[in-house]
Amino acid sequence: MRVLGIESSCDETAAAIVESDGEGGVILAERVHSQIAEHRPYGGVVPEVAARAHLDRLDILLEQVLDEAGLELAALDGIAATSGPGLIGGIMVGVTTAKALALVSGVPFLAVNHLEAHALSVRLGMKVTFPYLLLLISGGHCQLLVVEGVGRYRRLGTTIDDAVGEAFDKTAKLLGLGYPGGPALERAAAAGDPRRFPLPSPMVGRPGSDFSFSGLKTAVRHALARIDPEDPAAVSDLAAAFQRAVAVALADRTGRAAGLFTAEYPAGRHLVVAGGVAANREIRLALEEVAAASGLTLAAPPPQLCTDNGAMVAWAGIERLRLGLTDGLDFAPRPRWPLDPSAPAAAFAGVKA
Ligand code: KG4
Ligand code: ZN
Repeated sequence: MRVLGIESSCDETAAAIVESDGEGGVILAERVHSQIAEHRPYGGVVPEVAARAHLDRLDILLEQVLDEAGLELAALDGIAATSGPGLIGGIMVGVTTAKALALVSGVPFLAVNHLEAHALSVRLGMKVTFPYLLLLISGGHCQLLVVEGVGRYRRLGTTIDDAVGEAFDKTAKLLGLGYPGGPALERAAAAGDPRRFPLPSPMVGRPGSDFSFSGLKTAVRHALARIDPEDPAAVSDLAAAFQRAVAVALADRTGRAAGLFTAEYPAGRHLVVAGGVAANREIRLALEEVAAASGLTLAAPPPQLCTDNGAMVAWAGIERLRLGLTDGLDFAPRPRWPLDPSAPAAAFAGVKA
């Protein structure tokens, strides 16, 4: 089974072809064009700029992956595109392109939920069986989900304000560390003392598994007002305190969800972490402790599969195709598309799918 995957829901334009002979998959070709340079002048992703950049790049990337894999379109078993949730202008570019290719080649179209692509990505390269507990932490998402199977998700927690990557990006901006903020903040934190500035770890000890990060960002702003922002040691200490507070909050929320997961899903073996923030070392170490304390194994896709990419979309397409779940060319892109539509909206929740 060979599927082409297209990703264009945020600020990465990506395409990949994945092959599977049953278990797991092999990436035959992949390309990711990051739009960081286009968005850097604005300090964040500008939807209109993103949509135009996807349009400029996507056809080139598609030619490259087909060439590299040595395949004609007709040799594919499916053409998958992220069809939501995310920035609708970019999603429309990917979906329209995928439908056009499907139409001319007669290959089935697969409308992939971007969150499902993140959720299943670990199974491309590792033997992780259902059910598993998933912590999805990226620039746009911060959720705890039980992945019961393909298309079957139970949301245990979500953010009531910022996504965790967004909190890293905004805090890095406050600290003058540049964009994108996550990796820059982690580098600054490496030299810092997390104990110099006591920051709150939001939601710790509260029932449930929801997240909140906006108060932490405000606490950083207040602390910053009391130091010399030109003093690199103070900035490092504050970055370290922020990173520690986030890691403690994520571990607490995930620990609660793991308690519920192990009690209700005794066959479950894994805690999976995915999304761009999963690259953070302190957070990974904290999650390893949580997993061990609950008798679970922490599994994470390799970093290039954690950030937005085409291979995870192709892989989700393969998982759906195996179950016969193809989509019609009349599928309408969805700016919002929750994985668990039955989950109640978190109090004060923003537009975080
Ligand atoms: O998954 P991703 O590439 O895109 C989204 O779907 O959002 O995640 C990007 C996010 C950004 O907010 C970035 O700052 C954050 O992941 N990030 C990190 C690290 N590397 C990327 N956050 C903390 N530590 C890192 N090392
Ligand atoms: Zn993503």
